Amino acid sequence: MLVISTVNGARARRAELACTGRRLAFVPTMGALHEGHLALVRRGLGLADEVWASVFVNPTQFAPGEDFDRYPRDLERDRGLLEKAGATMLFAPSTKEIYPRPSATVLDVPQLADGLCGAFRPGHFQGVALVVAKLLNIVQPHIALFGAKDWQQAVVIRRMAADLCSPVRIEICPTEREEDGLARSSRNAYLAPEERRAATVLHRTLELATAAVRAGERSGAALEAKAAAEVAGEPLARLQYVAAVDPERLTPLATISNHVLVALAVHVGATRLIDNVLVEVS
Ligand code: PAJ
Repeated sequence: MLVISTVNGARARRAELACTGRRLAFVPTMGALHEGHLALVRRGLGLADEVWASVFVNPTQFAPGEDFDRYPRDLERDRGLLEKAGATMLFAPSTKEIYPRPSATVLDVPQLADGLCGAFRPGHFQGVALVVAKLLNIVQPHIALFGAKDWQQAVVIRRMAADLCSPVRIEICPTEREEDGLARSSRNAYLAPEERRAATVLHRTLELATAAVRAGERSGAALEAKAAAEVAGEPLARLQYVAAVDPERLTPLATISNHVLVALAVHVGATRLIDNVLVEVS
């Protein structure tokens, strides 16, 4: 597997690949890789001839006081995991390489980015949209893969790419979970053992919400109240938000008809965790 750290290097390799006509899938990440990331790589291999991944902890999507400085970084470990999963190129640029100067361009998708996590992390999705647009411009993949765990992020990116007439196909892949249901996340490493146990409340709450919809609950507000009560039962957890929304528009659903996305953010100790479930009504 090639490791490339410069934009020019990645472009040169991309030009070589273009001559072969091989189809390229791309998995952008911030590293500290786990099965969730590797599942995206493997899914990419099923959809294209070659998969490239990037590892870049993007400063512009972290607010002051968030965990940019202590975000786990281990490029050598990430390199080994990506190689084993079948990626053929790892793009691992420096901050200077991606941001040679502060960006004067702002990419905002307020309709989709201002609610849910965006309400609590102002500017976060602008940073995500900017770095993903840059990475897509550099790598020019046919397909880019994102995880459903970060559903709002994936929907924001899909809309951004469509609005910018990008030819890339955005693929949203299922959330990979630990055995007890906790969604895999680089941030799970922050959890102390009792917090790790308490963190199962996110998945439990989403299962409860799914069961409620299956049992006939059609009120978004009632669903949110049930979910909030479940989180309140876990002493180490503090609910930031839970919302029953339309999965595409991310707008609140007063009445559930075809489907509902239940999304939540919970602080377990000092660690903020997110998760969501898409429930189809048959
Ligand atoms: P990161 O958190 O490293 O995640 C990279 C990709 O892996 C994202 O598409 C995310 O949704 C996906 N992912 C994370 N956990 C997952 C899980 N348990 N199951 C399935 N997929 C999972 O998301 C980012 O990085 C950044 O915001 C990025 C898009 C790279 C832009 O900086």
